[in-house]
Amino acid sequence: MFRIPFLDLPPLRTAHGSVQLPGSKSISNRVLLLAALSEGRTVIHDLLDSDDTRVMLAALRELGCTLETLPAADGAIAPGLAITGIAGRLPAGTRTQLFLGNAGTAMRPLTAALALLGGEFELSGVPRMHERPIGDLVDALRQLGCPIDYLGNPGFPPLRIHPPDRAALALDQPIAVRGDVSSQFLTALLMALPLVADDRDIRIDVVGDLISKPYIDITLKLLARFGIAVQREEWRRFVIPAGSRYRSPGEIHVEADASSASYFIALGALAAPPEGGPLRIHGVGHDSIQGDIRFAEAARAMGAQVDSGPNWLAVSRQAWPLKAIDLDCNHIPDAAMTLAVMALYADGPSTLRNIASWRVKETDRIDAMAAELRKLGATVEDGHDFIRVHPLPAGQWQAAAIHTYDDHRVAMCFSLAAFNPDGCTVRILDPQCVGKTFPDYFETLFSVAQTQQEDIPVLCIDGPTASGKGTLTTHVAERLGYHHLDSGSLYRLTALMALRQGLALDTLDGLGPVLGDIARRLPVQFKGDTVWLGGEDVTDAIRAERVGNTASRISALPEVRQGLYELQHSFRRLPGLVADGRDMGTVIFPQAPLKVFLTASAAKRADRRYKQLISKGIPATLSDLRADLEARDARDTQRSTAPLKPAPDAILLDNSELTIEESVDQVLSWWQDRQPAALR
Ligand code: DC
Repeated sequence: MFRIPFLDLPPLRTAHGSVQLPGSKSISNRVLLLAALSEGRTVIHDLLDSDDTRVMLAALRELGCTLETLPAADGAIAPGLAITGIAGRLPAGTRTQLFLGNAGTAMRPLTAALALLGGEFELSGVPRMHERPIGDLVDALRQLGCPIDYLGNPGFPPLRIHPPDRAALALDQPIAVRGDVSSQFLTALLMALPLVADDRDIRIDVVGDLISKPYIDITLKLLARFGIAVQREEWRRFVIPAGSRYRSPGEIHVEADASSASYFIALGALAAPPEGGPLRIHGVGHDSIQGDIRFAEAARAMGAQVDSGPNWLAVSRQAWPLKAIDLDCNHIPDAAMTLAVMALYADGPSTLRNIASWRVKETDRIDAMAAELRKLGATVEDGHDFIRVHPLPAGQWQAAAIHTYDDHRVAMCFSLAAFNPDGCTVRILDPQCVGKTFPDYFETLFSVAQTQQEDIPVLCIDGPTASGKGTLTTHVAERLGYHHLDSGSLYRLTALMALRQGLALDTLDGLGPVLGDIARRLPVQFKGDTVWLGGEDVTDAIRAERVGNTASRISALPEVRQGLYELQHSFRRLPGLVADGRDMGTVIFPQAPLKVFLTASAAKRADRRYKQLISKGIPATLSDLRADLEARDARDTQRSTAPLKPAPDAILLDNSELTIEESVDQVLSWWQDRQPAALR
């Protein structure tokens, strides 16, 4: 799949409204594995659909689980999923290779479960996954009697797992596992050991201090839902009672992701002054079983007003600047990254402590946060297990291209830097890495963030009929992650409605006001590549030659042009717009920083249109097409209102001899030239 190389966030000012968060990654992947191991069918609601859950689902399918997609339940935000589990047993002789991307929540628990289920398995991931430690878990499993080999560096994936001698498993003495590197090792054992607890209690002893306890709490609560009542003695010893067996709860709801909530809690704290009403967050609240919900307390400590209900939060800005904090973040390791960016807006240096686990996550998060915060101009101190961030006063922010290290959380928390007081653009590199847990993160952000209209970038591409504007604009918009306005389609829609209303259009005398009215009230909607008029898909209908000709004629009427003026402006939405037409640069967006005027000879354009029509099976003659194009050009250039002509500051691009890629690269390079030096 094509990944956009970067997303430029224009300066953002305020945030109001409400957001619905996607399901929790930690809960989703645990529920998937538990349902897969259980006997019976489990219907899962509001499962997160993301890179990490897709990796887990693919693995479970490979292991023989049956998966069914179900329609979304009442009030649910996502389709349901039913899994029929394997009842704790794999068919004898199972051999398979599983690729687990960068999903720690799949790699660790599957390693433990597969080591006990029996079979030959090879587990691998992306290069970063092969740098994330798994040695302590493998040590614990080997100590039990599970044969596991390292296929690369000792202590790290990829792994080969062989079937154990079940009768010889050392289950009578406590199984020791380190708790101070990743709590996922303990989670993995807790979810896997019930597989072999038929006739005796199994004890797990944690060696060293247990970090990220709230994640263990999630594991225990979910195990209980699946019939496993683990006994816990402090945070040192866990006992899985003899006779434990996974039983499907029948149905289970995944609550929204509390770590994802942190970006919107922060957004409210930074950008929702009380007079505009709070930013509302749906899907998690004070009943959440996720530890990261305690991020709300940290945000309160920084001065935010946070109100909550069982499954909602409402956040507004109270103290401003925010108050600096000094906090042990061991209980909120993931969400704490968000605090590091909030600290830029505080009244003094903020210190986040006890975060050594950041170093073994998707990337070394302490190094990553320090390096990227410095790019914005901040002073940052960091050490083995802490980071201290100094506030960045107005006048000292710098535009920056934020490297995201294939780490969704780096991408999401740095979006908050777009609220800087200096109006600096923040470029997020590889923005689609948010797909790991929150594929629609930026769309959700833009749905509640506001900015000054003139700060939303616009790029205009004007030119005559069949010059290739549409294709060029689509590609440029896709590469920039911007919206696309095909203004010609608005004239075509107006023409289509006029034709359908049976207006006598032979002469347009006196029809200006009626047609202007139609234009002003067009019930149009663009959904992906389709165009809708009222409830009807008219994507093909507006491409008919008759509609195009009528559009060309009625577009000479000032009332029609005026009628479409506001509609065209309404497409200028975050994060930016690429607009194509005839007068985008001259009349509609005369302040746009880049205006391109496309040209190509009439012969070349006629030839392109001819090939396009023939390829769709529509009969056409080259000479007719060319005559028609020339007539349209003449009308478009000679009309008195907004005639087709380049804006004085437009750059001409003759694409007669260029491929689409070459034209796109040329336009993007002009666009880059207009960016601040740090982004070029
Ligand atoms: O780009 P197109 O062929 O879809 O446009 C249809 C007609 O609409 C075209 O003949 C001229 C008119 N038009 C216009 O006058 N101003 C625009 N900005 C876009 C299109």
